[in-house]
Amino acid sequence: MRGPGYDQRLARERETFAGQEEIHGNLPPSAHRWSNRHVRPKLEALGVPGLDELIVGQIAERARKLSRDAVVLSLGSGNGDQELGWLRGLAAEGLDNVRLRLLELNPEMQARAEASARAQGVADRVELITADFNTWRADAGHDVVVGFQALHHVLDLEHLYGQIKDSLAADGVLVVHDMIGRNGHRRWPEAHEVVDRIWATLPPELRHNALTGQIDEQFTDVDCAADGFEGIRAQDVLPVLLDFLHPSLFLPYGNVIDPFVDRIYGHNFDMDNAGHVALIDEIGVLDDSLLDLGLVTGTRLTALFHPTPQPLRVHGNRTPERSVRDTRVVDPAGRVSFRPGGTSGERLVRGAGIVTGRMNGIAHDDWAAPSVEFPVLTTAPVEVFELKTYLPDDATEYGCVTVSVDGVPVAKADVGPGLTELVLPVRLEAHRQVRLSFDADWSVTAGGDRRTLAYVLVGLSLR
Ligand SMILES: C[S@@+](CC[C@H](N)C(=O)[O-])C[C@H]1O[C@@H](n2cnc3c(N)ncnc32)[C@H](O)[C@@H]1O
Repeated sequence: MRGPGYDQRLARERETFAGQEEIHGNLPPSAHRWSNRHVRPKLEALGVPGLDELIVGQIAERARKLSRDAVVLSLGSGNGDQELGWLRGLAAEGLDNVRLRLLELNPEMQARAEASARAQGVADRVELITADFNTWRADAGHDVVVGFQALHHVLDLEHLYGQIKDSLAADGVLVVHDMIGRNGHRRWPEAHEVVDRIWATLPPELRHNALTGQIDEQFTDVDCAADGFEGIRAQDVLPVLLDFLHPSLFLPYGNVIDPFVDRIYGHNFDMDNAGHVALIDEIGVLDDSLLDLGLVTGTRLTALFHPTPQPLRVHGNRTPERSVRDTRVVDPAGRVSFRPGGTSGERLVRGAGIVTGRMNGIAHDDWAAPSVEFPVLTTAPVEVFELKTYLPDDATEYGCVTVSVDGVPVAKADVGPGLTELVLPVRLEAHRQVRLSFDADWSVTAGGDRRTLAYVLVGLSLR
C-alpha cells in the first residue's frame, strides 16, 4: 500500500503541519455563513447541537457507565487543542475518569499538545502516541475513537480501520468529522459542470485566486494530493469504512458550495455585502437540492460508527448507500446532465474505439472545454489517434492540447485556426477500457457565449 514516494510524501506532510499553530484558522466568513445555515440546522434536527457537544456527549455517555477510565483515541490530533477542550467540557460535567490518547505523526505538534496539557494541569490524563497511522498498531482498547479532519490524510485506510475495529469496545464509537469527496478534494465531473456554470456568471472580483493572486477565467480544480497526503484517498474514506463499521448517525453535506467557502476563493465573498450573502445562500440551497436528488454526493461527513449494526439516524434520504460516489465510471449515466443535448460519442469517435460513457467537457455543438474526459473501450490494437479540430480562421487564441490515457500524458497536439488534422502516435492494446483526456493550454470565453471553450472537436479516429 505504501509504495514508492511514500517517505517523501510523509516528509512533506510533516513539513506542512510543523509550523501550524492554528489548524482551522483563516476560514472565510462565507464558510461560517454556509455552515450556520445549511449544516448546523441539519445536525440539530438529528439531535446534535454542535460538534464538540457530539464528541463530549459520546465520551460522557461512556465515562458515566464505566468504573474505570474511558479511553479516548484521537487520530491525527494535531496540536491537541480540541481534545483538551473535550477534557475541560467533561470536567465541567464532573467527569474526570477519561484518558486521552493523541495519535499524531508530527513531533512539533505533539510538543505543543504536551505543553498545553501541562499548562492546563491534565498531563497525567494525556498520552502522546507519535506514530504514522498507516502503520500504527493498536496497543490498548478504546471506548471512543475520533477522526476529526484526519481520515482524508490516511493512505492505508484498510489497516487503520482494522486497528480501530479490533480495539473498539463492544459499545464503543468512532466519531467521524471528515472529507469524503473525490481524491485530492477535486470535483467529480457532475459537480464540476455545475461549478463551471456558476463560475461563468461571477464578476472578476469573485474569481480572485488567493494562492496565485490571479483572476481565474476558469475555476481551477486543484489536486491537493499532488505531493502530500491531503485528500490522498478521500473518495475511499466512506466506502471502505462501511466495510468495517456500522453507522448510527449519518450526515453528509457540501459539494458544489466547496469552492465558494474554501481558502482559495471563499475570502472574495464579503458577508457585509447583501449580494454576496445571497449568492452563498443560493449556492447552498442548490447544493442541498443536488444532494437530496442524488445528483451529486457529499464531500464532508459528520457521523457515528460502531462495531455492530445500529438503528440509523440520517438527514432525509442522504443514506450511506446514496452517499458513495461510484468511482468505476467517469459520470454515472443519468446521474446529472445540465447539457441534455451533449454530444454523442458514437458520432465523434470512430475507428477502433467505442465511447462507453459521457463525454465530459464537450457540448452539444462539439465545442470542447479546456478539459475533456471520456471513457473508451478499444476494439482492436491502436497505433495512432487521428485528431481533427476546428477554430474560426480569425481565432487569435489557440495552443497545445495534451492527450492523456488514464491520467498519463501520451501525446501533444498543436491546434491552430481553421481545420487542424493531426496524427498522434498513441499505442493501446485491444479490448482495453481507458479514460482519455484532452487538456488545452488556452481557453476563450467568446462574445455572448458564457461558456469557457477551447476548440471544436471535429472528430477522433483510433487507428
Ligand atoms: C487537517 S489536520 C487535523 C488536525 C486536528 N484533528 C484538527 O482537526 O485540528 C490533519 C492532522 O493529521 C496529521 N497526520 C497526517 N498524516 C498523518 C499520519 N500518517 N499519521 C498520523 N498523523 C498524521 C497531521 O500532522 C495533522 O495534524
